[in-house]
Amino acid sequence: MCGIVGYIGDKNASPILLEALRKLEYRGYDSAGIAVISAKKKLLVRKIKGRLSNLDLLVQQNPVEGNCGIGHTRWATHGEPSDLNSHPHTDVSQSIAVVHNGIIENHAQLRSWLERHQVSFASQTDSEVIAHLIDFHYNGDLLLAVRETIKRLEGSYAIAVVCSEHPQMMVVARKDSPLVIGRCEHANLVASDVPPLLSHTRDVQYLEDLDVAVITSEDVQIYNLDGERLEREVQHIEWDMEAAEKCGFEHFMLKEICEQPKALKDTLRARFKEEGLVFPQGVEALLKGAKHLLITGCGTAYHAGMVASYVIEQVASIPVEVVIASELRYRPLIKKEGEVCLLISQSGETADTIATLRMLKELGIPTLALTNVIGCTISREADWTIYTQAGPEIAVASTKAFTTQLLCLFTIAALLAKQDSAALLQALENLPSQAQLLLDRQEDIQRFAASQFNKTKVFFMGRLVDFAISLESALKLKEISYTHSEAFAAGELKHGPIALVDTSTLVVALCTQPTLYAKMDSNIKEVKARGATALVITFEHVHTFDDTADTIIRLPQTHPLFSPVLSVIVSQLYAYYCSVLKGNDPDKPRNLAKSVTVE
Ligand code: M6R
Repeated sequence: MCGIVGYIGDKNASPILLEALRKLEYRGYDSAGIAVISAKKKLLVRKIKGRLSNLDLLVQQNPVEGNCGIGHTRWATHGEPSDLNSHPHTDVSQSIAVVHNGIIENHAQLRSWLERHQVSFASQTDSEVIAHLIDFHYNGDLLLAVRETIKRLEGSYAIAVVCSEHPQMMVVARKDSPLVIGRCEHANLVASDVPPLLSHTRDVQYLEDLDVAVITSEDVQIYNLDGERLEREVQHIEWDMEAAEKCGFEHFMLKEICEQPKALKDTLRARFKEEGLVFPQGVEALLKGAKHLLITGCGTAYHAGMVASYVIEQVASIPVEVVIASELRYRPLIKKEGEVCLLISQSGETADTIATLRMLKELGIPTLALTNVIGCTISREADWTIYTQAGPEIAVASTKAFTTQLLCLFTIAALLAKQDSAALLQALENLPSQAQLLLDRQEDIQRFAASQFNKTKVFFMGRLVDFAISLESALKLKEISYTHSEAFAAGELKHGPIALVDTSTLVVALCTQPTLYAKMDSNIKEVKARGATALVITFEHVHTFDDTADTIIRLPQTHPLFSPVLSVIVSQLYAYYCSVLKGNDPDKPRNLAKSVTVE
């Protein structure tokens, strides 16, 4: 989704803004722009459709100089990607500039109201109303004008505002869309996410909903909508630039796939202490008292929940229901006695998951967040939070966030296990090094991808946790390689999908559940008989599929319930290599954004 940056300090703002926007490219965008206040108190705007390189060129041809500025990468929602629809947007007199992330739901009414007041619009966006409204309320006090404007906005927003009459000040605000302030010496910055701030500072302040901040080069003052001062803690980010850079890898996605052993180790270290499994205060009692677990999330996070439902039900005998957040928020929810809801979200900013969280809280259902981003909206609003220790995940396709979510969920299963918890813990401890063993053999997967990347139809099938990983594998392949891929429970093959199987089909069979090997073998024979190519993913030492499969990729032996942490690495690598072989950029897949902050 859109990205916002802002800088005010003792340096020229435009190169800092351009560099900061580059760090937000991963969020997905189709146009970009900056606005800077010059020393002569003139607002200079440069914006253009397309990649950041277009904006770089535009700024080279028409430089902008000044110590205060804002920048934006736009992911089109209202109005096509175009120069005019790009941000920053300005008021009619071109003295106020605004960048906005989110959706203004009442923009049509506001637009008509402004047009009745002789305001003419330059773009088709919902965001432009903000610039005109600020101008309408402006009488020399920028903070007041922003506060009055915000009171009239419905929907979600993170905004940064500059005004040519105030070259020493920037005003920012948020509701339902993230905004972080970076605190430096003689300069301050603002951004939608932490990576653009890291080359300047690791001391940050997260704004909360309906906070409005006035930022100068020396100070940050935060207010509520009534103009009362608020305090927001300055937090120190532990991870550094290296974690947010490619470090020699061709793509962030490959780097993040390869970081999984470390991310898994870090995630385990947060849970495994000398005294046994340790959870944040109150979480153990919450989980042990739960009679029913409801798990929700979107996309990959939902798939992590699906895996967990099989594992927790099997080892802890607690009923678990998993519902996609965009569905759950509109479903009539019948509250069950002893119900606890677990919300999974890498970013902690996904609009549907946040809306679901708020609905659950209104119903009085205890909420536990599982997220990767300290200070994110979901962690601030949920009753309890467990953090995965994946480090920053930049590539749009989620990889290390998923496996660390799985690991956290498995530690919950081990905590609630009715028996054999020592064996489960031992299996969990081995997973990081087993992930490394698999990564050491990634050339096998690369070679297989080279022979198959042109396949136009790829099906993934499996049973139980293997079905959940089939869904995740198909998602990974479609999002970055644009290959039509589908997943189904292998038992469903004869109920429909087999009609599509022919010689052009690759079927990936996930086979890690020993009691179901024979069933899977029959399914593989059925697709082979229709001419499909079959790749089997199973454990080393399993020979059931030797005569059936065209290719077998073998996983280090783990507890069958924990195989998803390993089997999904094969699918991630397969999707990555197919994407690269097809000439795509796996880090920035078309039409997708890293964090879906609007519905
Ligand atoms: O940040 P979240 O975990 O809430 O994001 C949820 C989905 O948007 C996300 O997992 C998406 O499906 C990924 N791009 C998949 O790789």
